[in-house]
Amino acid sequence: MTSGPPGPVRAVNARLAVSDLSVRFRLPDATVHAVTDASFEVGSGQCVALVGESGCGKSVMAGALLGLLPGNAEVTGTAVLADPAGDTDLLAASETVLARQIRGRRVGLVPQSPAAHLTPVHTVRRHLVDVLGAVGPERAGRAARHAEAERVAAAVGLPVTALDHYPHELSGGMAQRTVTALALAGRPWLILADEPTTGLDAPLVRRTLDELRRLTDAGHAVLLVTHDLDAAARIADTVLVMYAGRIVETGPVDRVLHEPRHPYTRGLLAALPRNGFHPLPGLPPQLSALPPGCAFAARCPQVGDDCVRRPDLWPRDGHPVACHRPC
Ligand SMILES: Nc1ncnc2c1ncn2[C@@H]1O[C@H](COP(=O)(O)OP(=O)(O)OP(=O)(O)O)[C@@H](O)[C@H]1O
Ligand code: SF4
Ligand SMILES: [Mg+2]
Repeated sequence: MTSGPPGPVRAVNARLAVSDLSVRFRLPDATVHAVTDASFEVGSGQCVALVGESGCGKSVMAGALLGLLPGNAEVTGTAVLADPAGDTDLLAASETVLARQIRGRRVGLVPQSPAAHLTPVHTVRRHLVDVLGAVGPERAGRAARHAEAERVAAAVGLPVTALDHYPHELSGGMAQRTVTALALAGRPWLILADEPTTGLDAPLVRRTLDELRRLTDAGHAVLLVTHDLDAAARIADTVLVMYAGRIVETGPVDRVLHEPRHPYTRGLLAALPRNGFHPLPGLPPQLSALPPGCAFAARCPQVGDDCVRRPDLWPRDGHPVACHRPC
């Protein structure tokens, strides 16, 4: 076992290329269009932030990539993971491949709800040692796994005393850091971090974000799912702005956050306290009853006659936006 914080043991020119990813939930009386035609890439040394209001499809997208959606989900598209272990389309992979080769090994997930992912009767140490037993070096003995558990915990700022706590004894921030440590234990090159700063106070938010950036700079790839634009500004290279299941604007973080082109992105920025806290009017449409044209039309200050047609994300490179009348 090596010492020091988790490093990029398999992160050599690795890349995830997502193309036309769509997710539909079939309900008895409706179909939920949770994600529609999402395409993006993230590679070693890159942090991509996926931002948008609650319910826009961020977690469903992350869940689809790891085969973690319930049985009523229909997932289409491709998501090709290309790393030294080979090329794998995550959306076509069997549950056996996802469980044995992908989750925790090549792709780590920091889940949005830590409590739902921790076993109440196991201590933090037991969680970490068990995960290391499953995804760590095959010949690592018990003592080595315990030492590695302490090293991974320290890397995310978990005090050693927390290792012997049960989940119900953890603060929200400690539970969050526990699931982050579990996600990093197998040294996956791609890290999907779904709202990893929920429940943390400001210094721990900064520490967690800076740790994700450090891992990025060490050669990992990070997909940061967040509704926090300041978190994206702090560590991301690229931003994907999602509205009603679709990516409506994407580009380099400075361009998107300082020269937003989509009225929705402008609205998100205007709602920040530092920008005067001007909340977006209205609510997003129900994903089971989307309007035929632009899904943002009912809330858009720039809406016009042409907005009855659904706008495509355009141009394909640089700073694309899905809007007929971009800013
Ligand atoms: N199993 C399911 N069956 C039906 N609809 C679902 C299911 N799971 C999620 N949804 C719907 O998919 C949509 C997207 O949910 P998702 O959890 O991805 O939102 P989110 O962007 O992560 O929001 P938040 O910021 O609150 O975490 C929501 O409308 C949600 O109700
Ligand atoms: S397409 Fe029209 S309604 Fe949609 S964001 Fe652009 S201007 Fe607004
Ligand atoms: Mg979510």
